[in-house]
Amino acid sequence: MENYEEFLEEILIEEGDLQARIKELGSEISADYEGQDLLLICILRGGVVFLTDLMRTLTVPHMIDFMAVSSYGTGSRQSEGQVRITLDLTTSIVGRNVLLVEDIIDSGNTIASVLAMLETRKPKSLKICTLLDKPERRESEVPVHYRGFEIPNKFVFGYGLDLDGYFRNLPFIGVVRTGKYIHPNNSNHARKSD
Ligand code: IMP
Ligand code: MG
Repeated sequence: MENYEEFLEEILIEEGDLQARIKELGSEISADYEGQDLLLICILRGGVVFLTDLMRTLTVPHMIDFMAVSSYGTGSRQSEGQVRITLDLTTSIVGRNVLLVEDIIDSGNTIASVLAMLETRKPKSLKICTLLDKPERRESEVPVHYRGFEIPNKFVFGYGLDLDGYFRNLPFIGVVRTGKYIHPNNSNHARKSD
C-alpha cells in the first residue's frame, strides 16, 4: 500500500473537530446513563478507534465487548439482507443497557440486522452511537440516538475506516480521491462489514 496522500482528496473532518465532538457525545452519554449499568458494543473493526476515544470521555462506569459480522450479496446491493456473526460477544446482554458504537452508518443494512439480532437477546435497552452518518444512502431505517457528524455521500477513510485494511490509524477523516480507489461496493467481491 502506498502513502495515504495518494488517495486523499481532502480532509473532511480534522482531528481537533473529531475530538471535540467526541467529548460532547461523551458528556451526553454520561448524563443519559448516570447511575445505570452500561455496556458498549463495538462492531469490529472500523469502530475501534472511535470506541477507545469515546470511552475515555465517559464518566459513567461501563464495560466493553466486541462483535464482528460479515454481509452477503453481490454488486452494489451486497450489503442488503442478512449479516452473519463471525465473532460473537463474550458477555450476556440480557437485562443490560447496551450502546452499539459504530464508525459509520451508510445504507444502514448492517446495523439494522445487528439491532434485530441483539433485540432477541432481551437487553434492557439498546441504542446506537455512530461517529459518521451518510443519510443520503439510507436503505434501512435505523434509530440513531447519538451521531457525531452527518457527512455527504462520499467514500471516506481514516480514524478507524480503512482502504483495503490500511490507514485506520489516521487521526482525521479524509475523502478518497475519485479514480484512485475502487469502492468495495462497486466490485463483485463480497465485503466484510468492517
Ligand atoms: P451499511 O450496511 O451500508 O450501513 O454498511 C456500513 C459499513 O460499510 C460500515 O461499518 C463500514 O465498514 C462500511 N462503509 C460504509 N461507508 C464507508 C466509507 O465511506 N468508508 C469506509 N467504510 C465504509
Ligand atoms: Mg463498520
